[in-house]
Amino acid sequence: MKEMTIETKVKVCTVDELSPADREVVDAARRATVNSYAVYSHFNVGAAVRLADDTIVAGTNQENAAYPSGLCAERTTIFWANSQYPSQAVKVLAIAARTDQGELEVPIPPCGACRQVILETEKRYNTPIRIILYGAKECYVVEDGIKALLPLSFDSAFLE
Ligand code: THU
Repeated sequence: MKEMTIETKVKVCTVDELSPADREVVDAARRATVNSYAVYSHFNVGAAVRLADDTIVAGTNQENAAYPSGLCAERTTIFWANSQYPSQAVKVLAIAARTDQGELEVPIPPCGACRQVILETEKRYNTPIRIILYGAKECYVVEDGIKALLPLSFDSAFLE
């Protein structure tokens, strides 16, 4: 049997090492965490996107007593941005989180469902999204889009 190797390259840096433009998106995600509605998990997530016209849109996770009815910060933000600015590609996505103890020290990664939505957004606008996962100690920067975090992905090409 043959083997296939799938490589994922992620840059690791501190928030201070990000470009001022990327830091702006990260700061919007960090600020958004305080607006999270996470009364059940107390895990407050903020996300922010930079659009092609440089608009920055932020959003948070929204929970519900019927747990699956809630939504992650990434999808809240992307769906809101795409609803308000349907002609603007998403270029950068930043994610940050805090608990009652403060900001997370480690980078917060998107869940599987959000990765699938990020993939759809890249396809929709034919634009890879730079993904910045914020942690107070270090950040991960995924330069070339979601394929690094979602290899062997299912997309619209399989439906043709
Ligand atoms: N959550 C997000 O908003 N984004 C993620 O990437 C991971 C998890 C939310 C969902 C739920 O409201 C809480 O964090 C705990 O899972």
